[in-house]
Amino acid sequence: MKYQFPEGFLWGSATAALQIEGGAAADGRGPSVWDVFCREHPEKIFERATPDVTCDHYHRYEEDVRWIRELGHNAYRLSISWPRLFPEGSGALNQAGVDFYRRLFDLLRSNGVTPHVTLYHWDLPDALARRGGWENPETIAAFEAFAAACFEHFGDQVELWSTLNEPGWTTLNGYVTALHPPGKTDLKAAVQVATNFLIAHARVARSFHKAGRRGKIGLALNLSPVYPATDTAEDRQAASLADAIFNRWFFEPLLLGRFPEEALALYNRCGFLPEISADDRALLAAPSADFVGVNYYYPHHVSAEASGNDFHLNTSGRQDENCRFSIGGLFRFVRNPRGQYTDWAWEIHPDGLYELLIRLRDLRPDLPVYVTENGIGRVEELAGGTVDDQERIDFVRLHLEAIHRAIQAGCPVRGYFMWALMDNFSWINGFKKRYGFLFIDRQTLARYPKKSAAWFREAARRNGF
Ligand code: NOJ
Repeated sequence: MKYQFPEGFLWGSATAALQIEGGAAADGRGPSVWDVFCREHPEKIFERATPDVTCDHYHRYEEDVRWIRELGHNAYRLSISWPRLFPEGSGALNQAGVDFYRRLFDLLRSNGVTPHVTLYHWDLPDALARRGGWENPETIAAFEAFAAACFEHFGDQVELWSTLNEPGWTTLNGYVTALHPPGKTDLKAAVQVATNFLIAHARVARSFHKAGRRGKIGLALNLSPVYPATDTAEDRQAASLADAIFNRWFFEPLLLGRFPEEALALYNRCGFLPEISADDRALLAAPSADFVGVNYYYPHHVSAEASGNDFHLNTSGRQDENCRFSIGGLFRFVRNPRGQYTDWAWEIHPDGLYELLIRLRDLRPDLPVYVTENGIGRVEELAGGTVDDQERIDFVRLHLEAIHRAIQAGCPVRGYFMWALMDNFSWINGFKKRYGFLFIDRQTLARYPKKSAAWFREAARRNGF
């Protein structure tokens, strides 16, 4: 075996409540901001898909745990639906929601699968969204109460907690590109919301630690290395600024207890500096994560030539539909002419993951890291009861090799979660963009293991490949 992983390495895949559960109105669940967004703006979602049923995991979780075991996982990353526990976002707890997750966690554990649980994977209860969502400090307080309820009810079953999933990506699309709810383009609000997420994380982590809870708490960040498109001083500067805004704004407070100067200077010039109370400022000045989760898909290439705002995500899965991201006067993301791209125009670049891991190691050599997401979306069809997704096997293998190299170089990576366990509701991409180890037949919702599932089971079994 060429790549032997450390003993106890976690091999799993990931999902999120809204993307797989369905049961949107079952047993007292309230609406989330995504349920409402899909209803009110069907034209923004590929083929007008909705999360109403998606994989119906809420009713089929027993079968899904059997698959998880069949796939050789010793861990599984999932999220808890906030509106299933608190239909109104705060106030009365919905016991049926608690019971569902207790049953699920029990089943996972009795099958030898460690649950890695995210508290917030974008399904903000609509009631809170209507009162200003993450712009309103009330939402931070409601999140603290939701988190406390989760620790109380599941603390004996769960030891690995992430407060938030991809605060950067959800802020970017909610408040800059307007592609996700609440569909705004308001850069000042974006900076405030990004900061409110960090405050929410830090407060929850503090109460977790103060209460002496069992286990570890961290969060999952979307990180992308940022390369200058050319070697000019302008592009290098633009790349460094983009790095400060998209990466360092999130990991520096968590790991080092400070915000990046470059971003602060920009926000100061633009009048975007976020409001932070003295208490929260003190809280943010101390590192607050027991581990960091890295969601890695692709790198950015940055050009300083950006005349206006322009945002577009490929939602068709056609190679010729380019993603566009430009903030006038600051920078623009460009395509790498030498890059290899997925059907959705995301560059495949495993070395980028290695570089990110080494960067984290250099900042905090002892801080455990999980690769909480990594995967490839494809257009796929079932043939003979399976999918020949050799491309996914290659993608996963190359990224695992990069992780292995980072571990050899001293980065304490403790686990890998492939996105995703099964094909799911891929936000504005609907159901066409398939990410799973399991193919979901959209007519019958039957699950079929793809070729990659067998490859991964073997790698997990041997703790390497
Ligand atoms: C990251 C997100 O966390 C997940 O929800 C999403 O589906 C994947 N990226 C793939 O786009």
